[in-house]
Amino acid sequence: MKVFITRKLVGKAEQMLKANGIQVKTFPEDRAISRAELLKNIKDADGIISMFTEKIDKKVIDNLERCKIIANCAVGFNNIDVRYANEKNIAVTNTPEILTDATADLTVALVLACARRLREGERMMRKNEWTGWKPQQLLGLEMKNKTVGIVGAGRIGYAVAKRMKSFGTKIIYFDRKNNLKFEKEFSAKRFSLSALLRRADIVSVHLPLDKKTLHILNKDNLKQMKKNSVIVNTSRGEIIEEKSLIQLLKKKKIFAAGFDVYEGEPVINPELRKLDNVFLLPHIGSATVETRSAMAELCAKNIIKVLSGRKPVTPVYVR
Ligand code: DGY
Repeated sequence: MKVFITRKLVGKAEQMLKANGIQVKTFPEDRAISRAELLKNIKDADGIISMFTEKIDKKVIDNLERCKIIANCAVGFNNIDVRYANEKNIAVTNTPEILTDATADLTVALVLACARRLREGERMMRKNEWTGWKPQQLLGLEMKNKTVGIVGAGRIGYAVAKRMKSFGTKIIYFDRKNNLKFEKEFSAKRFSLSALLRRADIVSVHLPLDKKTLHILNKDNLKQMKKNSVIVNTSRGEIIEEKSLIQLLKKKKIFAAGFDVYEGEPVINPELRKLDNVFLLPHIGSATVETRSAMAELCAKNIIKVLSGRKPVTPVYVR
């Protein structure tokens, strides 16, 4: 059995596969694999460990001669045509739960960085521009008594709400369905997206990307946000219509925005770099030693299960 891994992984995933008699080939370069390289390397693989940065569409799937499983090393799987893979009897798996805490921690860091203007403060120190304490210097926003709007009350949304609640905030949420556990635990009410944006001081985005959530935050509803509000996105860039958000930030119609993900990343809109009221991170929500090792190892477990004729641990399906 052969497995192709599109990027060098952290932790013991490779050893686990080898210990199970699986031959492993890892793309050797420290960059995203090109489509041509991907097509060439996966042709005769029995399993693939892919990253969310590779588009695994019908053409790629049709090129597979014997693949039984695509283990995506991410919780998001919008890069894969899951329905088509399943039709071809190829299992698709993701890495849920294990990255929830790391992503929630980073989300809170982004919220605080935006609300307390950490970027401006840090820049001032590095540029040796600080002339001393001033009563009005870099005034930010406090968390206590603020309303946090969680957009997407899944596992990560829940973990962010839990952290934010400890700051003395009120939690509200938007989701397609009612989440009773979420409502009970945080005394949270569900609102339509527009109503949430009108009410929230902090908006945190945690939706999976699909046809229904693409640009779900857009020109029409973003403008309803409060003037002193903060928005952060650690899910997928395409959920927010970025150019409309940039316009609001430029005109200071909202206080600040924190980005870990971007439309069309890794290329980012150059306007973002010019703004003082944004905090920009390079898609590092799950980037802790513990989480990235666990993600890779879960991919290996899924591969071992499927290649030995058993059910995967964390399959995904699209109906
Ligand atoms: C995911 O898991 O979907 C992240 O975006 C990468 O960790």
